[in-house]
Amino acid sequence: MEKYKSYNINNVGEKVEINGWVAKSRKLGGLVFIDIRNRMGIIQAVVRPENSCYELANSLKSEYVIKVIGKIVERENKNMNLATGEIEIEVSNLILINKSKEIPFQITDDTTALEDTRLKYRYLDLRRETLKNNLIVRNNITFAIRKFLNNLDFVEVETPVLCRSTPEGARDYLVPSRVNKGKFYALPQSPQLYKQLLMVSGFERYFQIAKCFRDEDLRADRQPEFSQIDVEMSFVNEDDVMEVGEKLVADVFKEVKGMDITLPLMRMKYDDAMDKYGSDKPDLRFGMEIQDITDCFKETEFTVFKNVFNENGIINAIVVKNASDKYSRKDLDKLTEFVKTYKASGLAYIKYNDEVTGSIVKVVSEKEINDLKNILNVENNDLVLIISGEKKVVKTSLGALRCKLARDLNLIKENDYKLLWVTDFPSFEWSDEENRFMACHHPFTAPKDSDVDKLLTDKANCYSKAYDIVINGYEVGGGSIRIHDEDVQTKMFEALELTEKDIEEKFGWFVEALKYGCPPHGGFALGLDRLTMILSGTDNIRDVIAFPKTASATDLMCDCPSVVDSKQLKELGISISE
Ligand code: AMO
Repeated sequence: MEKYKSYNINNVGEKVEINGWVAKSRKLGGLVFIDIRNRMGIIQAVVRPENSCYELANSLKSEYVIKVIGKIVERENKNMNLATGEIEIEVSNLILINKSKEIPFQITDDTTALEDTRLKYRYLDLRRETLKNNLIVRNNITFAIRKFLNNLDFVEVETPVLCRSTPEGARDYLVPSRVNKGKFYALPQSPQLYKQLLMVSGFERYFQIAKCFRDEDLRADRQPEFSQIDVEMSFVNEDDVMEVGEKLVADVFKEVKGMDITLPLMRMKYDDAMDKYGSDKPDLRFGMEIQDITDCFKETEFTVFKNVFNENGIINAIVVKNASDKYSRKDLDKLTEFVKTYKASGLAYIKYNDEVTGSIVKVVSEKEINDLKNILNVENNDLVLIISGEKKVVKTSLGALRCKLARDLNLIKENDYKLLWVTDFPSFEWSDEENRFMACHHPFTAPKDSDVDKLLTDKANCYSKAYDIVINGYEVGGGSIRIHDEDVQTKMFEALELTEKDIEEKFGWFVEALKYGCPPHGGFALGLDRLTMILSGTDNIRDVIAFPKTASATDLMCDCPSVVDSKQLKELGISISE
């Protein structure tokens, strides 16, 4: 079989046979022009009245499947916007291979069809150029990854999809067992435990492009079913793993985009990322760093800021350069509503122009306004936005606000990629719901050597050997060095308040394996869908998945999930409660 060919002016004179779909057909000056679409794009064919297939050409409708046989000729009226715009096919023979029903929406990139309609007829949607190209980018990424990792002696191993449920992390998707009634498999949230077992088995370098399933609230960058590029290595430390991770990502950028990424990537500690960007996945494509201005208001008379000192809170600000004239009172009210969704109690603002105006200028002193101006290096027409209150709320709301402002003010350049590692994550996070410290990653993530002794005595200040790779504000991947020392593992379980019984029930089988000569090991997983999203320039994860689910985890094309036959349920010993 020959490779697919795309044609251009250099092919003039060649005899060709082209299969494809009728994208458009029109009659002009007695000639019939047909735009044929296939994998390689669109090419124009022309049928003349004297041709025996003229009648057939005249009767063609959108999306009919045809074959044309003819010769490539130079066009009289060239269309330089089209790759094949300088040529056309002078048809000698036309064959109708199949007809098509009338299509529910026009197959063009600027379609106005609702996403639900497009998802219902996804096979038609995939005929659109952008979606087709996104899937080709995805293919190019996985191809580059396999090549890169194979060259470094990584072995691709498949791990099970029917697993044991491990109730940490997100909710599991469960699969009932027919042969073992009343028992369930879980679909893997990631191949985490299996890849660690492969290190115990001695594989040393493993990878897999693995399907993962998580029953969690969906967002624009989350799907219930997604793919990870999953990697694990033995006898390594954090630097070794991060080196492989960043070289892999840089290789993908080179292979897929032809872009050079400067290595090593910048590293930022989690605490610094939260302080400056209010997020553990900071978007570094624009400034607007969060600045601490608490000290400016030590002596303030303004009650809202005064309360901050009584409640151990903070006052932080961002400076929006040269934007005070761009935000009316009404716009600022909208921004206030926006930050309230992040639990901020309000948003104060000061516009620094010849005259200083804003929501708090009457209640704070002139000295405070001037101090702020100096500390923040404010210039004419800058807008200062301030939030006060509890540290976490202040940081996350300003973090979200800076991203929104960057989008609204078009501060983000096209094809600008800012990659970094976020390191030194806390080992634990406090859960109000559970009223205990929970593992920030999973219970097998190694703590920093210096923090092992704090695992039981100072959980709030324990940091782990975990790292995330972040691109343009997206968490594209993450991983860690795992615990291989039994004593440290026991301490970690104790810190997580897991009893012997809990451990045995939840992952006894896994802990047992770690006792049989477990090598030091660590790894990471990249989200393939998110990486493809970024490299395809879309912000909707569904655009890079052939058959995705909606935000409510349904597949509109095959109408799933669906009810099943009562016989099937009976076989499984399941009854549905109303
Ligand atoms: P983590 O849970 O951080 O790590 O997942 C790794 C990467 O997978 C992607 N990702 C998702 N993509 C789409 N939809 C989702 N619902 C979704 N959830 C996660 C993200 C994320 O960075 N076992 C560990 C890895 C390790 O420690 O080696 C893990 O799964 O891009």
